Amino acid sequence: MANEAEKNPTILLIGAGLLVLMGVLGTVILPYFDESVVTPTATAKLKNYPTDSAEARGRHVYIREGCIWCHSQQVRPVLADSKLGPVSVAGDYYYDKPIVMMTQRTGPDLTWVGSRYSADWQHQHLLNPQKIAGPASIMPKYDYLSEQDRNDLVAYLLSLKPAPAKK
Ligand code: HEC
Repeated sequence: MANEAEKNPTILLIGAGLLVLMGVLGTVILPYFDESVVTPTATAKLKNYPTDSAEARGRHVYIREGCIWCHSQQVRPVLADSKLGPVSVAGDYYYDKPIVMMTQRTGPDLTWVGSRYSADWQHQHLLNPQKIAGPASIMPKYDYLSEQDRNDLVAYLLSLKPAPAKK
């Protein structure tokens, strides 16, 4: 005999509602009680850019120009990411508003790209990625950016590096 409860819409709705609440509690509310999530790391503090610093403006250009749709900023604890640098932790994103962690990796992950290249390299690459990375690169040329925007963007890219280890 079928259970009467499973045919009762009120009970079904209450059950579904409780399940959603449990999900919200576990994924949205409980993390606020986790110290490692709500404490900024030393790296996060470096990225607490003062408003109207070159880095803050560059971050705006980074979002506006759609860099976020091809580049992630999260180093995962997996073998494939082992050469990228330190694994990202929640506290690294403390001041990242809006978060530009993203998921797409059409281009390489940029979490620590500031430790990989010089300012000059970044400028040349933005102006003509194909000249630097080879004709197969599908990254668009950003030669139309104003010099100010490009300078700011490069300042932002150079700031993407881990805080020096404490002695
Ligand atoms: C259509 C996708 C796409 C977009 C949009 C894009 N890129 Fe890229 N990017 C790539 C690809 C593919 C590569 C690898 C080939 C190369 O170096 O050109 C790359 C490489 C890079 C690298 C070198 C990373 C490394 O570790 O070698 C940097 C830095 C970079 N992109 C920054 C940017 C910035 C800043 C923007 C926005 C202004 C941007 N990209 C927009 C696809 C993209």
